[in-house]
Amino acid sequence: MKTIIKTVAATIITASAFLGMNVNAGIEAKCKACHDFGTANKVGPGLKGVMGHKAGTTSFGKYSKSLKNGGWVWDDASMRLWLGDGKKAIKELTGDPKAKTTMPSMKLKGEKLDQIMEFMNGLK
Ligand code: HEC
Repeated sequence: MKTIIKTVAATIITASAFLGMNVNAGIEAKCKACHDFGTANKVGPGLKGVMGHKAGTTSFGKYSKSLKNGGWVWDDASMRLWLGDGKKAIKELTGDPKAKTTMPSMKLKGEKLDQIMEFMNGLK
């Protein structure tokens, strides 16, 4: 009997851990329509290894002028800004009040922003 209870408890714990993981994993679904998490270009550039790399420098041929000429390196602060509000971020990151990006603003904040940052940091 004890063993059965233990097994049931273990199953419930495993199941909720699995569900929890799915919730976390869900956040990048917002990016998938436009981005490959490897190096392939889709509507947007492939995102593999983007953290720590200079913005606008993959083989993607359709960067906006603002992103292509940006020159910053993606770090925690710039990526949080970008995924919070890209339209605002491109102006701040370039220092140009007229700068524009073709990526729609993702409006991620709080826990969702933390989750996507964890995901982005893992894309190596
Ligand atoms: C509707 C399409 C679309 C969606 C959805 C989208 N992106 Fe983008 N993304 C783009 C495009 C287009 C660009 C290029 C923007 C430019 O050149 O101004 C881009 C650029 C980027 C860049 C800069 C890459 C580089 O090489 O410097 C990052 C990082 C990025 N996206 C991350 C994300 C993440 C993370 C998500 C999901 C939370 C996401 N994007 C959702 C279209 C999209």
